[in-house]
Amino acid sequence: MPNNDTPHRNRKWVLEQWTQDVVVASWLRWHEKISVHQAQLVHALLQNCGATAGEQVLDLGCGPGAVALSLSETVGTDGEVVTTDISPGIVESLKDRAAALDVENIDVVVAESEELPFDSEQFDLVTSLLTPMYFVTVSRSFAEIRRVLRGDGRVCLMAWGMPEQGDYFETCVLPFLQRSNLDAPPPEAPSPFRFAPPGLMTGELVKAGFVDVTERRFVLPMSWPGSPEELWRHLYETCVGFRPIFDSLSRDSFEEAYAESMASLAGRYDGTSTVNSVEIVLGIGRKV
Ligand SMILES: C[S@@+](CC[C@H](N)C(=O)[O-])C[C@H]1O[C@@H](n2cnc3c(N)ncnc32)[C@H](O)[C@@H]1O
Repeated sequence: MPNNDTPHRNRKWVLEQWTQDVVVASWLRWHEKISVHQAQLVHALLQNCGATAGEQVLDLGCGPGAVALSLSETVGTDGEVVTTDISPGIVESLKDRAAALDVENIDVVVAESEELPFDSEQFDLVTSLLTPMYFVTVSRSFAEIRRVLRGDGRVCLMAWGMPEQGDYFETCVLPFLQRSNLDAPPPEAPSPFRFAPPGLMTGELVKAGFVDVTERRFVLPMSWPGSPEELWRHLYETCVGFRPIFDSLSRDSFEEAYAESMASLAGRYDGTSTVNSVEIVLGIGRKV
């Protein structure tokens, strides 16, 4: 995890982490189970972003594409979804998936949120699910989002909320964090809970010039269609923000933490799914 707030270093870290072959391969390997696990989160974003038929929507940080593919159904053939990711491997695989599904109103583009390769005032709506935490420079990214929106365009961004709300992080990450002596990342550095504190996301949106800004928080179920061991393995492989915590432990501490995590997840496994809950924060605003 970045240990200072230098944009250059943070950008290098974000790019290195998210474009690693092993991370890209893990997102592809787990994508069907991830779409079940994150179904309620995707639903919450769609319910709150107000997308309608015929709109031009930009989705930042597509990952396996659950949000972009759902939005493409909402906007229909009169609309279009452009979705971006910093990882060329992720972009290629979503292009293939969209082609295999015959989805024609999606364009998938390699781009960083700080420098969007789009004309000004091109989109009605910008969305992003669990990616804003990794924007290297939040002020520049939010200014870019505002630039590419039309006059009455909207933004709807989702990030992790407070880790102590819900039990997902308590069971899967806290046993490791408690045994780690890694410094907490500085508030400006890309990290999973960067927008967790109340008011932070909205404060940044207001600073960027958005109006009618609101922050909505929900504690939502996340149901992993598999065992606790598999849930944890997927988290380790795909969530680059937590990996430094797991990897910082000695073998003994790791084994202790893993046993504690599995013991608390065991009671949440019904033989088919492992069910947790998590807080998410939505930052919503309008350009003017
Ligand atoms: C946690 S995943 C979320 C993916 C997707 N929205 C989902 O929920 O399945 C973050 C994704 O954003 C991409 N990403 C990370 N930082 C980014 C940035 N600054 N700009 C655009 N994409 C970024 C990563 O490559 C990764 O695919």
